[in-house]
Amino acid sequence: APSGPLNGRHVLITSGPTHESIDPVRYIANRSSGKQGHAIAAAARRAGAQVTLVSGPVNLPDPVGVAVHHVETAREMLAAVEAALPADATIFAAAVADWRAATAADEKMKKNGGAIPALSLVENPDILATVSRLSNHRPRLVVGFAAETENVIAHAQAKRLRKGCDWIVANDVSRHSGIEGGVMGGDENAVHLITADDVEHWPKASKSEVAERLVARVAAALGPLETT
Ligand code: PMT
Repeated sequence: APSGPLNGRHVLITSGPTHESIDPVRYIANRSSGKQGHAIAAAARRAGAQVTLVSGPVNLPDPVGVAVHHVETAREMLAAVEAALPADATIFAAAVADWRAATAADEKMKKNGGAIPALSLVENPDILATVSRLSNHRPRLVVGFAAETENVIAHAQAKRLRKGCDWIVANDVSRHSGIEGGVMGGDENAVHLITADDVEHWPKASKSEVAERLVARVAAALGPLETT
């Protein structure tokens, strides 16, 4: 790894959307491109970390020097994250589907004389909450993201407490975010870093600048490697 403040540290990152099957040709997805999560993985690597990236389906190259695990569903993402632990810090930038189809059909669903099929959903496991609540090998620093369209800071603060993570990075993913192309899919982001007792408003910047700044904060929070 390059030499830097995260030498000797393992950083685990999730990125991208998940796809939840309805049948062999249809799925539930969202607008995440993976750009923010992949930029964080690249920045952590530049800072000298050993980096594991668990990525949903994206159209991005694997960041150089990073161990990448490709998954499709939330349940696969959870399994890949659990298999990659322990880690010193985890950063959950993926837009994981909250729900999946209760049953995925084995064959393509056919139109049937105008009858509209009902899609019933069940809740997916919450990866961030699961890792935040680990009693054994909980990473020292667990960072979530919160994608909100209204009351961004208040909702993100509530989410930090509900999920039990240390920090949450809040971003406004509404149409009014002022980010060209939208936060989901675009090249820029404007975030708020929410910690236990503070809210920092970061200016609009490229996703790679946001990633650099977040990784620098993670490195500062972990501190120097204790040598025994
Ligand atoms: O991918 P890009 O196009 O670059 O866009 C970046 C982004 C907007 C996707 C990213 O910055 C972001 O906000 N990611 C989180 C998106 C999201 O799903 O937020 P949420 O508020 O629904 O979830 C809160 C947190 O819980 C997130 O850390 C999420 O990864 C995690 N989560 C959610 C559900 C679930 N089942 N498991 C989880 O781990």
